[in-house]
Amino acid sequence: MSREIIAILDFGSQYGQLIARRVRELNVYSQICRADITARELSRLGIKGLILSGGPASVYDEKAPKCDEKIFELGVPILGICYGMQLGCQVLGAKIIAAQRREYGRTTLSILEKSDLFANIPDSITAWASHGDQIGELSDDFVQLAATDTCPFAAVRHNKKKFFGVQFHPEVSHTPKGSLILKNFLYDICGCSGDWKMSDFVSETLEAVRSQASDAKVICGLSGGVDSSVVASLVHKAIGDQLVCIFVDNGLLRKNECEDVVSMFRNHFHMDLRVVDWSQQFLAGLAGVTDPQQKRKIIGSEFIKAFESEASKIPNAKFLAQGTLYPDVIESGSKDGNPAANIKLHHNVGGLPAEMGFELIEPLRDLFKDEVRIVGEYLGLPEDIVWRHPFPGPGLAVRVIGEITAERLEILRAADEILIDEIKSARLYRKISQALTVLVPVQTVGVMGDERSYENIIAVRAVETVDFMTADFSQIPYEVLGIISNRIINEVRGVNRVVYDISSKPPATIEWE
Ligand code: XMP
Repeated sequence: MSREIIAILDFGSQYGQLIARRVRELNVYSQICRADITARELSRLGIKGLILSGGPASVYDEKAPKCDEKIFELGVPILGICYGMQLGCQVLGAKIIAAQRREYGRTTLSILEKSDLFANIPDSITAWASHGDQIGELSDDFVQLAATDTCPFAAVRHNKKKFFGVQFHPEVSHTPKGSLILKNFLYDICGCSGDWKMSDFVSETLEAVRSQASDAKVICGLSGGVDSSVVASLVHKAIGDQLVCIFVDNGLLRKNECEDVVSMFRNHFHMDLRVVDWSQQFLAGLAGVTDPQQKRKIIGSEFIKAFESEASKIPNAKFLAQGTLYPDVIESGSKDGNPAANIKLHHNVGGLPAEMGFELIEPLRDLFKDEVRIVGEYLGLPEDIVWRHPFPGPGLAVRVIGEITAERLEILRAADEILIDEIKSARLYRKISQALTVLVPVQTVGVMGDERSYENIIAVRAVETVDFMTADFSQIPYEVLGIISNRIINEVRGVNRVVYDISSKPPATIEWE
């Protein structure tokens, strides 16, 4: 089935993925492309429209990213945002200048022309801007659509080409009418009908998995996290018992995690789930190791051994189902050393090597995380799984600072259970993006009963973030922190002090190791 596509040319904007998600929220499929994609390639994609993203450069920089100028001959509508606007206007004959007063943050936009992009938008709206350059002079081919106090050409339209430019960012939530502006572009200007719906995605994907797998067995590494749970459920719905899930118990899991996964997927969803208890091998391999990257390497290689030992017992296994998501695809496709891609690399521990000889089934590779959650809900997965916080592949090993022993893991597991329990009781779990405890093996003095104690510190970390690349510490109310601290100190032997981590990322990371 051919699908309506909007291409987004990425000029290095911090909001590139956000534009793509906003378009999809409006039920139109969007695809992020390199800025230098050719007009011919775009026309092969069969796009309904094009969005040029913002970016940090100035169009006059020698190294400023350019686009193929032939895209303006394709005949499809183009919306340029910030840098994308300046680039489009420059190609079509405008002069870009350094603004006398830069605009960063909220600004008031006066709408001067309401026929298309700004249809049904009030005369004056709040918009989010972030630019140093702006349009200085325009040819008569352009129409001014909106202005701010300092930026007379805050939005423009070209009369002969279907080009629109906005100097502000309609994709961010700080532009409250931004979604309506994008909707006008997609529906009224590009003529999209909105054919990107999760129900259609699911039925198309089920068909595709059935035809790819035919009568072979498909193996899926299930961790109990959102992505692998949704993959397993989708594939199971498509091919039933041809799917075999493998869950590796590495001994570094949260309390009851293994039992919960078994009860959900084997007992409730009736999947063929094989549990490999490899915990002794993991703990033996990690004995005496304190370096975080070394821990990750050992865990990665033990995981492969555990997985292979079970997979080799499954006859006619030809495929491996994996939860690769769209951001992974974009990042691994980046050829220009995108630093975000490198940050992710060290997190890919726990993955499986390509040379295992399986063909891949990656049903989520077109989806963003929030879309995966919608699919999970659609498939009837419980809220507990669909909204689960991310949990790193190396598990509690990177949260026990220093040496890992069964006793230390037990202390951390008990503290972690209390933290999650309390933030759920306080109804904060969905607001917080990720919450965890860290065992800091630094002994400090305390008084317990009438005795002096000399015990460990537990650090509590909770962050709020959209993309996990940047994050703020979560402002958990003091009362809740108080309850968490009291319970941990009272209930977990070996801990006499609890501290709250109030650092942002960057420079601090979410995990401590
Ligand atoms: P940091 O600590 O870099 O983490 O701010 C960002 C996100 O990645 C997770 N993380 C990992 N996930 N293997 C994983 O599968 C890893 O080695 C790893 N290290 C960090 C972290 O929990 C957070 O969600």
